Amino acid sequence: MDTDTLILGAGAAGMMCAAHSGGRVLLVDHAKAPGEKIRISGGGRCNFTNMFAEPTNYISQNPHFVKSALARYTQWDFIALVDQYGIPWHEKTLGQLFCDTSAKDIIAMLRDLMAKTGVDLWLETEIGAVAHDGTHFVVQLKKAGSTRTVRAKNLVLATGGKSIPKMGATGIAYQIATQFGLEVTPTRAGLVPFTFSDQPFAAISGTSVPARITAGTTSFDEALLFTHRGLSGPAVLQASSYWHEGEAITVTIEPETDWLSRLKDARKATPRRQIGTALADHLPKKLAQHLDDLWGLKDQLANTTDARLQEVAAQLAVWSLMPAGTEGYRTAEVTIGGIDTDGLSSKTMEAKSVPGLYAIGECVDVTGWLGGYNFQWAWSSAMAAARAI
Ligand code: FDA
Repeated sequence: MDTDTLILGAGAAGMMCAAHSGGRVLLVDHAKAPGEKIRISGGGRCNFTNMFAEPTNYISQNPHFVKSALARYTQWDFIALVDQYGIPWHEKTLGQLFCDTSAKDIIAMLRDLMAKTGVDLWLETEIGAVAHDGTHFVVQLKKAGSTRTVRAKNLVLATGGKSIPKMGATGIAYQIATQFGLEVTPTRAGLVPFTFSDQPFAAISGTSVPARITAGTTSFDEALLFTHRGLSGPAVLQASSYWHEGEAITVTIEPETDWLSRLKDARKATPRRQIGTALADHLPKKLAQHLDDLWGLKDQLANTTDARLQEVAAQLAVWSLMPAGTEGYRTAEVTIGGIDTDGLSSKTMEAKSVPGLYAIGECVDVTGWLGGYNFQWAWSSAMAAARAI
């Protein structure tokens, strides 16, 4: 069978690209349904974009690469599309836009757009050998027990990254890209909880506190959640994308709080209490107890010098922790790294050395922050390719 464009992967990027590409389009996926990650995203409500999305919210070996696609198809363009379909949405926090009702609204919208442009969608289809015969890409596709050969002028890699293999993530885009001579930068799990040896936070698991988490030189102020296995919560997931194995992270408990003044006030008001008890007035009780055990905060406030209070305030500001690792691709929301942007046109997402070969979405070495940025990259990169096709 011949087609103009064969798109591998019916996720966010693949569907968006299929819906907006001209000519005959065949979209294939090994899953039973398209857009499975959209369906489960944002707790079932899909955080489909971020009002403040800009290039600085993305990690890539070439931080400039995202600029063109993001500028040519912005969050406002996608919001307009969502509005055109009458999908109700709201801002949750920090510019993060969610569906009011269900993430399925976004999938239904993409399916409708694809139906309107006559996209052929093959589900439960395995991708076999991929070759180029000099004029066309030739791809073996196995569907319902039979193998079909598809010839296509354009081949779009949209099979995402390695995160959540249980949901069908395979990393096949990296293999095909490598086969065609493109470089792939090292990949690792991103937006992922940290794990620690010996489960140091098991006793306070479920406790949450506003915190600043710093990995390398990058910090995020949001909630920190202590878990059985380690640390999670938005601030931790964000920082995890900037963390490398063997590095310590810094936790600042309630960065907005002037802990020294607070402790001095407590010394004046309740001099007979211990430092740890005073902390429990402001922090979740379990956390205050944990810090008390960890740092020995039994001294009575009345007998405590300014220097000692300063020391405790400093501990709360710079609590250095050494993660053993992360939960890895099993729970990571994204994959950092991927198809090297050096080999792609930032305007069209086409491989510079292989005319007709495109890579879009998460399989490319572009990773967004938590908060709708990754879907915006999927939409923007998909549109860049679709407009060129
Ligand atoms: P995506 O992974 O969506 O699609 C790839 C498709 O390719 C899949 O349908 C897969 O089945 C298919 N495929 C893979 N290998 C194949 C093979 N060998 N053969 C055939 N098909 C194959 N982002 C965001 O902005 N807001 C949010 O709210 C969330 N929430 C969220 C929650 C969870 C739990 C996860 C895991 C991730 C998120 N994300 C997110 C990230 C977001 O889901 C992700 O960045 C996009 O889905 C990437 O879109 P792609 O289309 O590139 O890949």
